[in-house]
Amino acid sequence: MCGIVGYIGKKQAAPILLDGLSKLEYRGYDSAGLAVRDGEKDPVVVKAKGRLKDLSDKTAEGTTVFGCCGIGHTRWATHGEPSENNAHPHVSDGMNVVGVHNGIIENYQELKAKMIRKGYSFYSDTDTEVAIKTVDYYYRKYGVGPIDALAKTMVRVRGSYALAVMFKDYPGEIFVARKDSPMIIGLGEDETYVASDVPAILKYTRKVYYIGNLEMARLSAGQVTFYNLDGDTVEKPLTEITWDAEAAEKGGYEHFMMKEIHEQPKAILDTINSVVRFADGTASDGRTVAGKASIDLSSVGLTDEEIRKFRQIHIVACGSAYHVGIAAQYVIEDLAGVPVRVELGSEFRYRTLLLDPDDLVVIISQSGETADSLAALRESKEKGVRTLAIVNVVGSSIAREADYVFYTMAGPEIAVATTKAYSAQLVSCYILGIQFGLVRGTLSQEKADRLIQELSTLPGKIARILEDKERLQWFASKLSPAHDIFFLGRGLDYAICMEGSLKMKEISYVHSEAYAGGELKHGTISLIEEGTPVIGVLTQKDLIEKTISNMVEVGSRGAYLMGLTTNGNFSIEDQADFTYYIPRTDEHFTPSLAVVPLQLLGYYVACARGLDVDKPRNLAKSVTVE
Ligand code: F6R
Repeated sequence: MCGIVGYIGKKQAAPILLDGLSKLEYRGYDSAGLAVRDGEKDPVVVKAKGRLKDLSDKTAEGTTVFGCCGIGHTRWATHGEPSENNAHPHVSDGMNVVGVHNGIIENYQELKAKMIRKGYSFYSDTDTEVAIKTVDYYYRKYGVGPIDALAKTMVRVRGSYALAVMFKDYPGEIFVARKDSPMIIGLGEDETYVASDVPAILKYTRKVYYIGNLEMARLSAGQVTFYNLDGDTVEKPLTEITWDAEAAEKGGYEHFMMKEIHEQPKAILDTINSVVRFADGTASDGRTVAGKASIDLSSVGLTDEEIRKFRQIHIVACGSAYHVGIAAQYVIEDLAGVPVRVELGSEFRYRTLLLDPDDLVVIISQSGETADSLAALRESKEKGVRTLAIVNVVGSSIAREADYVFYTMAGPEIAVATTKAYSAQLVSCYILGIQFGLVRGTLSQEKADRLIQELSTLPGKIARILEDKERLQWFASKLSPAHDIFFLGRGLDYAICMEGSLKMKEISYVHSEAYAGGELKHGTISLIEEGTPVIGVLTQKDLIEKTISNMVEVGSRGAYLMGLTTNGNFSIEDQADFTYYIPRTDEHFTPSLAVVPLQLLGYYVACARGLDVDKPRNLAKSVTVE
């Protein structure tokens, strides 16, 4: 997502900031900025929308901005459109506090209202400006030092942040605070660096401190002091980075795809947190913590009245996003009782559309730029039908043109094969299903509460699957010589099979197909021969026996069988050569868990075949042509 770099030392800061930010470009961003201080003078703030090169050009590669202390930022828009105004650094009045921020301040609206009551005004749409002005407020109000002001802010802020701040009264120093968003501090000869990720500073130093969660630090040239929330100092070990620069950008993973597979718990959690409101509670240490949950789609723009009126939903998408749509169809129809049609973007636009003004067209797209999905959106709007976009990239064409936008919070996805965006899209659809069900009266409040609680367990359950990935690596080594792999399932399991099959074929180049179990006899079974791998997905209680029968049918014709099922379904082991168990969850949500082993299988088969996992042949990340 966003990137942070900071520097204090004897060299000019701006060129170092620009260079460090360039190493974080791979994360994706839409604007950039820096603030540099020359001694006691006020910081000079420069920002640019678009590429980092624009910021570099504006400052003649940093040479027109003088000073040896500064902070820089690349922004991936979450609150407010990509623009120079919303770009970081953000400042309080008189440049008293100037800062950059990664993460999301969940209760920013509430804090903003409070700051407005205290006489503050706001020039941007960002949660970051709210955070900076909150720090300023506590700094001025209590006449305390920067660390106390940061601590007071931290107990009032909910969400995730890596914050790097300069105070007018403290020239030559940077203060940082962190919760659930990465941040490291690097130490050189009489110089100190701060960054959101190792590659930004690897060229300058390999000696780093890892600042802990809910901790702060005071940085000056060559010196760092760490503090906990009580303002007590904390000792930290200095660590030596041994990775090469290329590996560091991938956070130590060999490929972006593996990194992104591991980012799924966070992508899901951030997406849930963007629309699920937790009533505030107060912890024993005074911190604000989450209580009972409810869904609030006001950021999407959907009102209960509108939700009640929709006659039918048409989900339109391409590729993996279409597979999300197939799963969503089962979930939304079951929870909310609204008829759902799922259409491929490329087909939707070329047939007679029987759309009703009371219908809702839902476009699902990671990039928000897929040509066929965009065309479907435009055509629906022309027909006077309301459109809802489930999109990852803020400010993308689909997000701009849709009537309602539900942003997935997956962050930038670099690997061509989608993983974390797919997972965030799935969760968005579950949330829509629950809220539609609740508002339209097909779900009781009690059931909805239970489903929301269960949703919030998914990140932890995915993390457990990821801890057990070596078993899949072993099984993938058996699959890698295959010419064809088949995926079998029924109902929601069929939807998972479609995504598992696409993951397999697009990166490993092994032909694969997903089949609804009942379709086997209508043709596919003739393809099964001795040793053909068949992966059965069995997560839906009422359908397990049916899919087992299908596995027996292909097993007796020589298929090599894997069963993917939920904990407790041990009978699968009687049929399968290899069984993989996922944690139990509500059956509507099993796609979120079952897809992870299938992503890993595709990944490991591609690696075993020595392929370029992140950039499969002939494919582009964003398909902007028909
Ligand atoms: C497969 C994959 C593609 C995309 C499809 C739609 O791993 O990534 O199938 O899902 O091209 O792209 P978006 O979601 O950007 O519209």
